[in-house]
Amino acid sequence: MQDVRKIGLFDSGLGGLTVLKALDQVLPEVPKMYFGDTLHLPYGDKSNEAIIGYSTRIVEFLIREGCDMIVIACNSASAAAGGYLEEKFPTITFINVIDPVVQWLAESDYTEVGLFGTRATVRSGEYARRLQLLQPNIHLRSLSTPLLVPLIEDGFLGTGIDQQVMRHYMAHEQLQGVQALVPGCTHYPLLAELAKEVLQFADWIDAPVIVAETAAAMWKGNASPSRTDGRAAVQYFLSDKTTSFMEMSEKIFGISAQWQTITLS
Ligand code: DGL
Repeated sequence: MQDVRKIGLFDSGLGGLTVLKALDQVLPEVPKMYFGDTLHLPYGDKSNEAIIGYSTRIVEFLIREGCDMIVIACNSASAAAGGYLEEKFPTITFINVIDPVVQWLAESDYTEVGLFGTRATVRSGEYARRLQLLQPNIHLRSLSTPLLVPLIEDGFLGTGIDQQVMRHYMAHEQLQGVQALVPGCTHYPLLAELAKEVLQFADWIDAPVIVAETAAAMWKGNASPSRTDGRAAVQYFLSDKTTSFMEMSEKIFGISAQWQTITLS
């Protein structure tokens, strides 16, 4: 594996920032670039072909900018485009957000696990397929929860509506009796506190931390912090500067004016 100089991450919008935050904890000295494809949000309701097209253009951009490790910080893109991207860009180290969590589950004691995900992720069956290969004794119960991404992106966190929607999904018969719940969308960790309140008898899996630890273990580059505090800079890019995204990225992650808009063709 070649030395990594910069790590790129991408998602349809805010969700991948949960992974970036976790990654910044374990690899603070590595420069990073984040791309939020707000023009095409949500990915979870798009076809595989569309998601592959968007992801390819973003990856080409991140490579042009010098990234040689890329974290596909989106479950929908990891499921629909992960394999395609690995084949198309063989010199890049890709970390998808599904395999690290599947590996972690396979090493756990759980036997009944629930998964919340977008339609694209649940439709793909990738969590169940990969888990079956590693640990067939775990029974995975998947539920698509398409209201959660718009709820987060449109600023409904903490309004009470988020709680009603979570209760509605968690009451689904598919999830009864699970020991753990996997947030199979990188937006959902933003609902962790609420989920823990509602989910009294199951564990909430900290997927961003699991993914970040995998990326850190794969990272073989030299640390070259660009700032005196030992932390490297993070650059933020968007495909469309929307008011709601700017407001939410500042409110939730404290990222304000640093977003640059990039048109990918
Ligand atoms: N955060 C993404 C995921 O993990 C995409 C959500 C969406 O755009 O639908 O699937």
